[in-house]
Amino acid sequence: MRLLLLASGTGSLVQAVIDGLANTGVEIVAVGSDLADAPVLDRARAADIEVFSAHPRDYADRAAWDQAFTETVAGYSPDWIVSAGFMRILGASFVSRFGGRIINTHPALLPAFPGAHGVRDALDYGAKVTGTTIHLVDEGVDTGPIIAQFPVVIEPNETETVLHERIKAIERRELVHLLRFLEHGTLEVSGRHVSGYTPSAP
Ligand code: GAR
Repeated sequence: MRLLLLASGTGSLVQAVIDGLANTGVEIVAVGSDLADAPVLDRARAADIEVFSAHPRDYADRAAWDQAFTETVAGYSPDWIVSAGFMRILGASFVSRFGGRIINTHPALLPAFPGAHGVRDALDYGAKVTGTTIHLVDEGVDTGPIIAQFPVVIEPNETETVLHERIKAIERRELVHLLRFLEHGTLEVSGRHVSGYTPSAP
């Protein structure tokens, strides 16, 4: 199975996937980013994984970036693409080319708190429970069919950093578990409903 990872930041999820899929039949064919200086790219280089980056501001418009990003990714012939902390919305041509084979993690219980600040938005709202969602990517923002969700009870006075780290600990474990499943298993998708997969039981 050829896996391509997309990320924008520190890349602790990417690192977990690199470590968790070692000695499996999953090959991480590349790690891509919108940011050339994202620390995640150093993690990938350290693991001898190819990297690439492309930022929309370096293209004539968003559609041109989307097209170029799509072509670059297609060049790696990935079976699955994981947006693991990729903080940019994937474009229409990207989603139409790879739709059904793109997975995203989002640090909130969708459809609550979509967007770039899922953890902060849940805290600001006064939510008592939040969590993480692993889902397929469609044309919308954090709207695709849900593969798995995991609740996290928010502690009184918890900071965004502490809460996000607790959520990421779950994301790291569950993303690896799902990708190990996908090496041999198949998700059944019917409209919004995804079946055929059982999350790990910690
Ligand atoms: C993760 O919590 C991931 O779910 C989130 O970014 C974090 C990346 O952490 N993604 C989004 O918020 C996408 N909207 P990392 O850089 O430590 O891997």
